[in-house]
Amino acid sequence: MSLVIGVVSQKGGVGKSTVARLIACNYAASEWMVKIADMDLAQGTCTSWNRRRLQNEIEPKVAVEQFLNVSDALKTGEHYDLVVFDGAPHSTRKTLDIAQSSDLVILPTGVSLDDLEPTIKLAHELKKNGVDPAKISIALTRAGNSDVELSEGMEYVKASGYHLLDGVIHEKTAIRRSSDEGKCATETPFKTINEKVDILVQSIVNRADVMVRKGR
Ligand SMILES: Nc1ncnc2c1ncn2[C@@H]1O[C@H](COP(=O)(O)OP(=O)(O)OP(=O)(O)O)[C@@H](O)[C@H]1O
Ligand SMILES: [Mg+2]
Repeated sequence: MSLVIGVVSQKGGVGKSTVARLIACNYAASEWMVKIADMDLAQGTCTSWNRRRLQNEIEPKVAVEQFLNVSDALKTGEHYDLVVFDGAPHSTRKTLDIAQSSDLVILPTGVSLDDLEPTIKLAHELKKNGVDPAKISIALTRAGNSDVELSEGMEYVKASGYHLLDGVIHEKTAIRRSSDEGKCATETPFKTINEKVDILVQSIVNRADVMVRKGR
């Protein structure tokens, strides 16, 4: 049975596709067979990104496919070690389907209240609809330069009771540029950026291990 990680949010542009690609590349670098299920049919962000990755001959390879339904993605996913769902924004029903089918549900969010409030609201909705709250993990993405803003964001998440993943993705042009080349956020030309983002990767891997051991 493959590991399933869902990356979802209600709000657009918070970093779902960035986190999904990050997870996929890093597991693939450890020899896992990885498929990203791109549920964003309108934008197909991960699908286009993977075309650039292939064109630029970047290793490790990851598979990306667009799906209309979660169940179709899971069927194909049986041939993979890991399926990463990149959720579409504003898609309540599919967001719930993804969350219910995932071993770990990651909610990426910026650190402003504009981002944090809808993130915690979505976490509550998922919980209300039967998703084990322990499966829900919040990832801070698109953080700015202010340590105060970041630590207030962390406190806000901790106060909500949901699991806050260690590590933060800061807003960096290099991360955008790398994604333009088909790379993920730990594949930038800058070691310091890659090492910082790797802290988030490691905490996702650890949390996924915990959830799999708990759930199976
Ligand atoms: N840490 C970052 N630094 C710089 N740019 C970033 C960062 N994270 C995301 N971006 C950029 O912000 C935009 C939105 O990110 P992304 O596509 O990952 O969000 P999303 O939640 O998947 O969006 P959508 O809801 O539209 O699917 C993209 O242009 C992406 O390259
Ligand atoms: Mg996206």
